[in-house]
Amino acid sequence: MSLEIIILAAGKGSRMHSTLPKVLHKIAGKPILSHVIDNAKQLQPTAIHIVYGFGGELVPETIGNDFDYVFQSELLGTGHAVMQALPYCKEDSKILILVSDIPLISSTTLAKLIDSLDSSDVAVLTAVTNNPFGLGRIVRDENGDVKLIVEEKDCSLEQKKIAEINTGVIASDKCTLTALLNKVGNNNAQHEYYLTDIIGLANSNNLKVSAVKAQCANECMGINNKTQLAIAERYYQENLAQKYMEEGLIIIDPKRIDFRGQLSFGINVTIDVNVIIEGNVKLGNNVVIGAGCVLKDCEIGDDSVISPYTIIESGIIGKNATLGPFARFRPGCKLDDNVHVGNFVEVKKSFLGNGTKAGHLSYLGDSEIGSNVNIGAGTITCNYDGANKFKTVIGNDVFVGSDTQLVAPVKVGDGATIGAGATITKDIDSNVLAITRAPLRQIANWKRPKKKK
Ligand code: UD1
Ligand code: CA
Repeated sequence: MSLEIIILAAGKGSRMHSTLPKVLHKIAGKPILSHVIDNAKQLQPTAIHIVYGFGGELVPETIGNDFDYVFQSELLGTGHAVMQALPYCKEDSKILILVSDIPLISSTTLAKLIDSLDSSDVAVLTAVTNNPFGLGRIVRDENGDVKLIVEEKDCSLEQKKIAEINTGVIASDKCTLTALLNKVGNNNAQHEYYLTDIIGLANSNNLKVSAVKAQCANECMGINNKTQLAIAERYYQENLAQKYMEEGLIIIDPKRIDFRGQLSFGINVTIDVNVIIEGNVKLGNNVVIGAGCVLKDCEIGDDSVISPYTIIESGIIGKNATLGPFARFRPGCKLDDNVHVGNFVEVKKSFLGNGTKAGHLSYLGDSEIGSNVNIGAGTITCNYDGANKFKTVIGNDVFVGSDTQLVAPVKVGDGATIGAGATITKDIDSNVLAITRAPLRQIANWKRPKKKK
């Protein structure tokens, strides 16, 4: 029997108080729905059907076209939502139904639920929680068998005390599901067609119901409001930090770090507090990331030290670099080994050769800089004439004095020295000293003007 997965994602999420559909809010920089999909994919289903409604095309547009989308035009309940998708499932398939607002259930737990269908007709994933308010309660009989699920709004006072809840995840086969859902009515407090009613119906039709209890109630936490979204975010982040620490990463405080992408790292890597990792980040051996750095889509070579508050928006950094504090790398940077880029230096679309240093307060854009170059404080590559961008090319062993403007397009030959305060508008030959300074004059006994009375 093949496995197909239906993800219910049509709800508005009224308690989010947002125009964005709930499922498009993000955890770790990724839409909630994408987390559900990624977990679903690990089970290698033959198809994933996403039921969408509120927010309309924004959902498929954001999530992408790799899935089968089913539009639920009227939000008549979870049972109704599943009915919309069932016609698109293969006749003899097993079906796993996931709700999109419980995004952190591990695929291991989901696999257990599917396995339990080997000895039952309908399987429900439950969890025991100390705050069951708002959730469907699992009602068991004296033998401990699950009899039915009662929604909070339909619960008796006695049922409200039940701590075992429905996670919303249910599995069965297409044939059973269709038969049971056809019998579901909407005679309940919310006048909705509840998916959960199929549990009671299964029992009254002598079908076997199994229940799998999730190991960790946390993975079943639901996201219905912004507070729960923040709690889920921290839970996700701390879990990931835990995993990385087990793999050897030194994280100074796992409560103060954010992963919003893929991280890979070598041995003896340390990450200080309040660092954000985005996109694809690869850290070599012995790399040290200082407090408050934002690293996105970059590769950092062995033994490099990135001092606090350095921002890398994408780039490749060689070995033994010392960057920051407060350095900014915009997209398109490639740094060879042993490069130093210090505070308040902005680098964009540039190559810096081996051993080159730009210690302070510079803008290096659209440039190609050789090895062992010293870029003095305040140096600016003037790459833009108001309309077009031009390139600055600096050879090896060049010394650029402080406060130099290199008006691109311009080239500086190997070994050249540029005196401080130069405005370079023409190519500079190799091994010369270039100065554009006006000669210094000293006017003796100069009297400063006085304010008129
Ligand atoms: C549902 C369950 C409840 C369970 C809880 C777990 C039902 C009737 N209740 O309640 O037992 O404890 O989840 O979180 O199933 N959706 C649609 N179309 C609809 C209605 C809902 O696609 O017409 C989607 C929502 O987007 C959401 C999911 O189904 O992802 C669950 O709907 P929601 O309204 O959040 O149900 P709960 O009241 O949380
Ligand atoms: Ca919910």
